[in-house]
Amino acid sequence: MKHRTLGRTNFEISEIGYGAWGIGGTMWVGASDKDSLAALHRAIELGVNFIDTALVYGNGHSEELVGRVAGDATHKIYVATKVPPKNRIWPAPPGIGIEEAFPRDYIIRSAEESLKNLRLDVIDLLQLHVWNPEWTSREEWRRAFEDLKTQGKVRGFGVSLNNHEPDSGLGIIETGLIDAVQVIYNIFDQAPERNLFPACIKHNIGVLARVPLDEGALAGRIAEDTVFPEGDFRNRYFRGDRKKQVLERAAGIVRDLGLEDASHLPEIAIRFCLSHPAVSAVIPGMRSIGSVEGNAMASGQGPLPAGTLEVLRRHAWDRDFYK
Ligand SMILES: NC(=O)c1ccc[n+]([C@@H]2O[C@H](COP(=O)([O-])OP(=O)(O)OC[C@H]3O[C@@H](n4cnc5c(N)ncnc54)[C@H](OP(=O)(O)O)[C@@H]3O)[C@@H](O)[C@H]2O)c1
Repeated sequence: MKHRTLGRTNFEISEIGYGAWGIGGTMWVGASDKDSLAALHRAIELGVNFIDTALVYGNGHSEELVGRVAGDATHKIYVATKVPPKNRIWPAPPGIGIEEAFPRDYIIRSAEESLKNLRLDVIDLLQLHVWNPEWTSREEWRRAFEDLKTQGKVRGFGVSLNNHEPDSGLGIIETGLIDAVQVIYNIFDQAPERNLFPACIKHNIGVLARVPLDEGALAGRIAEDTVFPEGDFRNRYFRGDRKKQVLERAAGIVRDLGLEDASHLPEIAIRFCLSHPAVSAVIPGMRSIGSVEGNAMASGQGPLPAGTLEVLRRHAWDRDFYK
């Protein structure tokens, strides 16, 4: 497993991180804790040392599972978690004041709750779970971050940017007060390359590439007749003819790269993210040992060849399935 430095922190994190949304088990239905813990253990065994979770994932359940493995691991595990907006509105719409989403005392209380769930004394990276650029100059988040650092409860800070809005992070990066941004970056959504990534490189800000497999579409796992469990958010994400659309898009990538079938698509999708020098880690969700093992193999292979990246560039796709 190869490591990269997370921005200007001294965290040497595995370039494949563990995305822990799915194991929370509310919006993703079907993960048993036994399987989730087995996947987490296998990831750590294969050298993963960075886990991205959030207080809201399963209302603390994802953090609790992470807490059960992080403390006992044989190597240091860097844990990133997130403060949900107090108004529980995802993504952050324009025009809503920070006092409704992230008051200072609320940020601190949320971090303390996460520490309990995680059974840790300190959170390595605390991220705001939504971001609205109108809040950049506000005191609330600045004071909360400063106080949490002084109290020794958090080591680094970041923001998780709204879906498909990478440029909303440009202002906060300039403040010099955060260490990392988390952003959707995958073969379909290449928009962060335009402005966000150059800014992150310039200011030495870490980048966590989330949803690298487009919720499964870029893993070649979505067919027209794929059925998700009742209550699973993917019923909405892939609603109507969207399964057909992603199937055709994935088939187009396979065809243009001259692959035999879609079996290597997840590896290519992960390596696509790692090919950009701004990316510190890619954080696929992986509730199964099979996914963990497949993704761990994608590490250490270096950037995809220029010709492959050129082909993938043509597969960018501007749309927002979260809406
Ligand atoms: N607003 C936010 O801050 C936000 C929003 C979304 C996501 N995130 C973070 O980003 C992480 C990643 O996003 P995500 O989990 O939503 O989606 P994702 O990583 O794009 O896709 C996850 C899906 O891909 C499958 N998969 C993973 N590796 C595979 C492989 N090698 N072969 C075949 N299938 C594979 C997983 O299967 P199994 O699970 O069945 O193994 C799961 O169904 C989240 O876990 C979370 O930490 C943050």
